Amino acid sequence: MKKEAEVFDQLVNQRRSVRIYDAEADFDHNAVQRSLERAVLAPNSSNMQLWEFYRVKSPEKLKTLAWMCMNQKAAKTARELVVVVSRRDLWKKRQRALVEEMQRVYPDASSKMAQRAMNYYKNLIPKYYWSDWFDIWGFLKKCLYFFVGLKKPMVRHGNRVDLRISGHKSAALAAQNFMMSMEAEGYSTCPMEGMDSLRVKRFLGLPRKAEVVMIIGCGPGTQEGIYSERYRVPNSEVIFEV
Ligand SMILES: Cc1cc2nc3c(=O)[nH]c(=O)nc-3n(C[C@H](O)[C@H](O)[C@H](O)COP(=O)(O)O)c2cc1C
Repeated sequence: MKKEAEVFDQLVNQRRSVRIYDAEADFDHNAVQRSLERAVLAPNSSNMQLWEFYRVKSPEKLKTLAWMCMNQKAAKTARELVVVVSRRDLWKKRQRALVEEMQRVYPDASSKMAQRAMNYYKNLIPKYYWSDWFDIWGFLKKCLYFFVGLKKPMVRHGNRVDLRISGHKSAALAAQNFMMSMEAEGYSTCPMEGMDSLRVKRFLGLPRKAEVVMIIGCGPGTQEGIYSERYRVPNSEVIFEV
């Protein structure tokens, strides 16, 4: 096994969801910033980066947010809470940035690569992300995919639910990058979906279409913060070769 794989293996094995953090031990808040900068390097759908990360570290705001996390210990004792948010509503802004980036990367607009990239971001992305109030466009896309899919492989996602899932997928991958990075920095984390997402959205002043993916408690871990031995169902029940 490569040295990097050994280090990674150790980090993956030692990471646990820790629910009680040490209030006295030193905590380097810069580790959170570094870890978030690593989080945004996670793979994400079409590189649209439809995510946001909100750091909460002042004692009063921590108390309020912990209350919104049903006063879970993982939130109440956290030295910092990071709210991971999915922002599918930002697609136009990201699309503009990506079109500019493609123009920079492919200065020769007549090249095949440039045309393909431009077609993707200028034509396909709006068709995928645009949606109307009743999601009629999403329904029509699904119908079209169904009929095209009768003859050949076809993507099947296209309605609002699919867009929401896509946003959560990408944001969750970033969250995992963040947690692994915090582990490498010597700190513990606990992802939480046990929260009042409506109140959290109001607390952060987020718009209607934004969605709270999870809140991650972090800080110096304690042994009593690990509630039980790690349990996983046998690999043979979840890992298959076809
Ligand atoms: C999406 C998600 C939501 C979770 N929500 C909570 C939560 O609200 N409270 C909590 O204590 N743990 C929560 N967890 C942590 C899981 O309970 C934990 O990852 C699982 O029991 C496996 O334990 P391990 O992380 O120590 O390996 C959540 C984990 C994920 C991935």
